Amino acid sequence: MPQRVVYFNGSFVPESEARVSIFDSALMYGDMAFEMTRTYQHRPFKLREHLDRLYRSLRLLEIDCGLSRDDMERLTLETLERNLATEPADMDWQIMHDVSRGPLDLYGTAFPDGLRATISINCWPLITHMGRFASRYASGVDVVIPAQQAVPAHLVDPKAKTRSRLHYQLANLQAARMGDGRWPVLLDPDGYLAEGPGWNIFLVIDGALLTPEPRNILLGVSRATTIELAGKLGIPVRETNLGRYDALRADEILCTATTYALVHATTFEGQTIADGGPGPVFRRLLAAWKQLAGLDFVDQASRYAARLPDWLAQQAALRPR
Ligand SMILES: Cc1ncc(COP(=O)(O)O)c(C=O)c1O
Repeated sequence: MPQRVVYFNGSFVPESEARVSIFDSALMYGDMAFEMTRTYQHRPFKLREHLDRLYRSLRLLEIDCGLSRDDMERLTLETLERNLATEPADMDWQIMHDVSRGPLDLYGTAFPDGLRATISINCWPLITHMGRFASRYASGVDVVIPAQQAVPAHLVDPKAKTRSRLHYQLANLQAARMGDGRWPVLLDPDGYLAEGPGWNIFLVIDGALLTPEPRNILLGVSRATTIELAGKLGIPVRETNLGRYDALRADEILCTATTYALVHATTFEGQTIADGGPGPVFRRLLAAWKQLAGLDFVDQASRYAARLPDWLAQQAALRPR
């Protein structure tokens, strides 16, 4: 079975050989922009939107990666193409872009070929992410507010997608202490809902879809897609300040992100949202998402869940000892 390869600093190398230096600015400062795209039936979903966001992040970070957007797109498609044969044809993929400033100048003597941005593009089969996630489409998620707050735009703008993510990790740890599998939604310093560590939030109140203003949040590609689909379905959408009070009176709460598209919240701060099940707006949006993706990705996730134990065993057997 062929092994996965990674585009890494100008060439394609086996995944296990793609190593970032301990002197890299990414490790020293979390100084790295990244993107996460997924495929639906091998076609990257909204790749151009993800790459546009990547280059906007790089501009904020003042990193010149030396590749044009077209180059990055071409290399992304080539990386995907080179990895497809490592899995059965029905496997979809996560595509990750990571770009840092490269090793710090102070350690320049350790890099005789010179210092330059560190760039990697890797593909990972979605069976792990979606196999583990599959049951959530029906069961929903339990959302809580952690003590950790969001970093507001006037400090480090969260519209840039960076690896400087300690606040998200602390929020995850705090949520886990509040109960197994809890999903934290961070508040901004004004006490308004911002976002989760890897997702945007929507409330459904009186038939309208409400979501935090695009201020202290990452502008999720799935958030934009959900807004676009709601528009097509005639569901009114408003970007506005939302707090704990609004979430607790909501008829539905939805979370959106690239891998799973959208999922509903069963509870918020321990209180059940409506009857706890997937609501009518969620159902309509999910159906529209599937149509747009050209794939029943909920069904696909269930199939991955069934195959995951075998896949993990197979990967363990392949691992060099
Ligand atoms: C902080 C944060 N918010 C929201 C999202 C959702 O963005 P997208 O829909 O583009 O995946 C992510 C994705 O990783 C994220 O890291």
